[in-house]
Amino acid sequence: MRPLIAGNWKMNGLSADAQKVEKLIEAFDGAMPEKIDVLICPPATLLAQLAAAYQDEAVQFGGQDCHAAPSGAHTGDVSAEMLADIGAAFVIVGHSERRGDYGESDAIVKAKAEAALRAGLAPIICVGETEAERDAGEAEAVVARQLEGSLPAADKGKTEIVIAYEPVWAIGTGRTPTGGEIKAMHAAIRRIVGDRCRILYGGSVKPGNAAEILKLTDVDGALVGGASLKAADFATIIRAA
Ligand code: PGA
Repeated sequence: MRPLIAGNWKMNGLSADAQKVEKLIEAFDGAMPEKIDVLICPPATLLAQLAAAYQDEAVQFGGQDCHAAPSGAHTGDVSAEMLADIGAAFVIVGHSERRGDYGESDAIVKAKAEAALRAGLAPIICVGETEAERDAGEAEAVVARQLEGSLPAADKGKTEIVIAYEPVWAIGTGRTPTGGEIKAMHAAIRRIVGDRCRILYGGSVKPGNAAEILKLTDVDGALVGGASLKAADFATIIRAA
């Protein structure tokens, strides 16, 4: 499958940080690699500006979350339609920081993924076990349950769905599962979702481990947090793909 390297800036980025995209493109001498999809999910405040400025470049932009409803009395929220309207192509849903901080259930994540498809955005549905769940030998069961609960029922196949396997204990910690553990989990996810989804690995992907992770069977790309904030590091990860 065509690799997808996605950067999740999380709650980082003021207007001056828009130039990180310029730096990324410069790292490739102005021509982004054609065989790879490169996606940046900046904070919502920068999305419209970046999507408009780089619409001719081979860099795509996405949201970090969306509300399930198209519009309405939901103070502070952003809908999938709003993201599509300003040029986003993807939206992350069910990131563990949202599942954790806001108690987002699988049912809510599913409604958000369905909203993304309704708006013509590709949802990136995040799943992943906690450290206690892995230690208890439940990692695959937890991820299977999350997938069952958060995958949209029937997509008409027009818009793609992406899965991101992100073990909660690997996010922002510098720790990653072994290659064997990643391979086994991605194979388990593949058995559930088949060939219709790209399956990304996320959690402490860095310039130093990206090549090793991205060459594993059933790893179709990466969802990168911290290392996507430095153009040079993100460029190295893209090259590794
Ligand atoms: P990290 O974050 O690369 O900083 O571990 C990944 C993520 O949360 O998507």
